[in-house]
Formats: sequence, structure tokens, C-alpha cells
Amino acid sequence: MASDLEIRSLREDDDRSGFTCGQPDLDRFFRDYAGQNQFKLHLAVTYVALSDGAIVGFATVASGSIERSALPSQAVRKRLPAYPLPVLRLARLGVTVSAQGRGVGQALIGHVLGLAIGLRDRVGCLGVVTDAKPEATQFYERLGFLRTYLTEGSLHGGAVPMFLPVDTIARAATSSRSR
Ligand SMILES: CC(C)(COP(=O)(O)OP(=O)(O)OC[C@H]1O[C@@H](n2cnc3c(N)ncnc32)[C@H](O)[C@@H]1OP(=O)(O)O)[C@@H](O)C(=O)NCCC(=O)NCCS
Repeated sequence: MASDLEIRSLREDDDRSGFTCGQPDLDRFFRDYAGQNQFKLHLAVTYVALSDGAIVGFATVASGSIERSALPSQAVRKRLPAYPLPVLRLARLGVTVSAQGRGVGQALIGHVLGLAIGLRDRVGCLGVVTDAKPEATQFYERLGFLRTYLTEGSLHGGAVPMFLPVDTIARAATSSRSR
């Protein structure tokens, strides 16, 4: 399925009413709040994955920051200043139940990592942070995310804060291009 996916930003007339990823809080966010957060409040942008014209997944991103002390690597911490550092926050991610396990989540993360590289080059960005649901931490770890400490803007109780450095993203992109 991943090969025939289209990923683009949410449009106001996209039909979100039937979307279900199996997590009621994520479904409610996507159906009821993703639109106003993007089009009225300008808090975040949601990207949708479509297969045969139907939405099969979404990823919501927003700008954010991380304290130096929250970074998982001491070597990296030593090089950085002691004020909030710019990151891209992956705020929500969900794949419709019938499409799970077919590469849609990974494709959406790939799109988000591309956004982080673009931000790095245009305005500065250290990496991607997310608050993973405990049952999804392995999914993120397989993609290179590291467990970290509390990050600014953390929303969900029980969530596991995770961070993927932009340098890791860039190295992975370069090695996959040279293969
Ligand atoms: C978690 C979620 C986004 C993953 O998306 P997906 O499209 O099902 O995942 P993919 O098919 O892209 O999986 C990529 C790889 O991660 C693995 N994977 C997927 N979900 C996983 C999980 N929960 N734990 C561990 N590994 C997982 C897959 O087996 C696959 O491995 P492979 O490349 O060796 O085959 C999706 O299952 C989902 O929406 N779940 C409910 C909501 C949720 O938990 N969202 C995350 C909130 S932080």
C-alpha cells in the first residue's frame, strides 16, 4: 500500500467523519479539532495519507522547543546553548484500523522527517519530538527515536517523550539515496 499513497496537507473539505485508528482520543482530535487548529487557530498542520482517494492516516505537526537538559546525548548537550532549542513536534499520528501494518505510519513519519530537514535548512531545527503512547514506543524506536526526558508542550499522561535528532535523519536519507 505504501507505494500508492499520496501524502498532502489536510484540506477543509476532506471528509474526516468516518476515520478510526482504534484510539478514541486520536479519532476525536482528527475529526473535531485538526481542521480548526489548522485553518482557524494556526496552531498545527495535519498531513493526510490517501489511498484510492480515501484518508488512511494522518500526522499532525507543530513547531516546538526542547530544553538542552532533555536531550538524550551528553555529547550533544555539551555543544548546545542553555535556552529552548527549536524542534518539530509530531503531535498526533494515527492510521485507520483497516490499513494498519501496511507501511502507512512509516510513510507518514518519513514525510514528517522531510519537513524537519526542510526546517533545519530554512529556520533551524534540531530534530523531531513526540509523546509516544506506551504501546507505540517500539514503533518509534525502530525508526531511530530515542527516549528522552520531559519536553515542553507534553500533553498526554503516561506518554513517553521521544526525540529523533535531525542529523540522524539526514544521515539515514543520504545512505538510502546512495544504496
Ligand atoms: C502506531 C501506528 C501509527 C503505526 O502505523 P502502521 O501504519 O500500522 O505501521 P507501519 O505499517 O508503517 O509499521 C512500520 C513498522 O513498525 C512496526 N509496528 C507498527 N506498529 C507497531 C507497534 N505498535 N509496536 C511495534 N512495532 C510496530 C510494523 O510491524 C512495521 O515493521 P516492519 O517494517 O518490520 O514490517 C498505527 O498502528 C496506529 O495508528 N495505531 C493506533 C494509534 C496510535 O497508537 N498512534 C500512535 C500514537 S503515539
